[in-house]
Amino acid sequence: MDILVTGGAGFIGSNFVHYLVNTTDAHVTVLDALTYAGNRESLAGIPGNRLTFVHGTITDAEVVNRLVEGADAVVHFAAESHNDNSLANPRPFVDTNLIGTYTLLEAVRRTDTRYHHISTDEVYGDLDLDDPSRFSEATPYNPSSPYSATKAGSDLLVRAWIRSFEVRGTISNCSNNYGPYQHIEKFIPRQITNILAGLRPKLYGAGANVRDWIHTEDHSSAVWTILTTGRIGETYLIGADGEMSNRDVLTTILTLMGQEPDAFDHVTDRPGHDLRYAIDSTKLRTELGWTPEYRDFPAGLAATIDWYRANEVWWRAAKAATEAFYASRGQ
Ligand code: NAD
Ligand code: DAU
Repeated sequence: MDILVTGGAGFIGSNFVHYLVNTTDAHVTVLDALTYAGNRESLAGIPGNRLTFVHGTITDAEVVNRLVEGADAVVHFAAESHNDNSLANPRPFVDTNLIGTYTLLEAVRRTDTRYHHISTDEVYGDLDLDDPSRFSEATPYNPSSPYSATKAGSDLLVRAWIRSFEVRGTISNCSNNYGPYQHIEKFIPRQITNILAGLRPKLYGAGANVRDWIHTEDHSSAVWTILTTGRIGETYLIGADGEMSNRDVLTTILTLMGQEPDAFDHVTDRPGHDLRYAIDSTKLRTELGWTPEYRDFPAGLAATIDWYRANEVWWRAAKAATEAFYASRGQ
């Protein structure tokens, strides 16, 4: 089986490629534009007979058509993925998340190739802190940021291509991932690498916002379960019951790294900042029998801290530019 993985040099895509190589016999072809978020080193150590790496963009129909023709299945991770960047410059989000997804859909439509679309819980907007409900597959779309709006748009394209053109597609919407190989612009690795670099961690606003954390390895196993046993045309939400406020996540990191729990700065809040995400993954668990393995969040965080400590060479070059971007926004 040859699986085409778009965005395989990014955070979740590279973890999925390692998962495939370690747990299946599949050959993997990665198509990745190596934007600021892509890193070829995230795929280091994978034997050449298991991986073909193609440097290119998913908006290029010629390269997409060629690679899809040689694939048994496509798993589409490639995206512009960071909310703060989408507030500063939305255009690349429209190009990659909408036009790129359209380009892939036309290719899988023409070749009748199995397609799995990676999406986010952010398409559903946000919940109040005291709302007893969680997002489910029936929740109406209500995205807040340019990032989440383009992800919602890409999901709707997939739904239309499934219904109108009988594309053999599935969609998954996952909550916040953590683990190795995550770009240091994101919340958890930004704070870990700030502490390692002697900088103070930065909390947006009061830090009451809640995210629903899942280890990226559990995301990978869920995607593989859906790709191999999911019902065509269906959407599955992926989550591991990991709700925690940003403030609590940060104080846990500080404590695990031997710092005082209040050794951080409050900085300017994100405009339009979603308050709370929470996933009900009952459908995935009952229909396909998936369960998460990583149930101890502090233990997963401790392992993630160890990974960044041991892999400074992987993140150090990006630190100055990342912090300069945030400083320009008061964050
Ligand atoms: P990331 O930013 O770490 O990686 C994105 C990858 O896509 C990079 O390797 C980048 O080079 C590549 N890329 C960007 N534009 C491209 C283009 N035009 N053509 C080819 N490659 C391109 O992102 P991530 O956090 O790994 O997210 C991966 C996917 O998972 C995204 O679709 C995102 O919406 C979704 N998702 C992320 C999370 C999360 O917590 N990070 C949660 C749920 C869903
Ligand atoms: O829910 C899934 C989404 O999770 C994915 O679709 C996105 O691709 C992914 O980036 C993530 O989005 P968030 O905006 O939730 O993640 P981020 O890591 O940017 O921020 C997490 C929370 O932490 C959010 O409430 C903002 C806050 N934050 C972030 C940074 C970078 C801070 O308080 N301080 C920071 O320095």
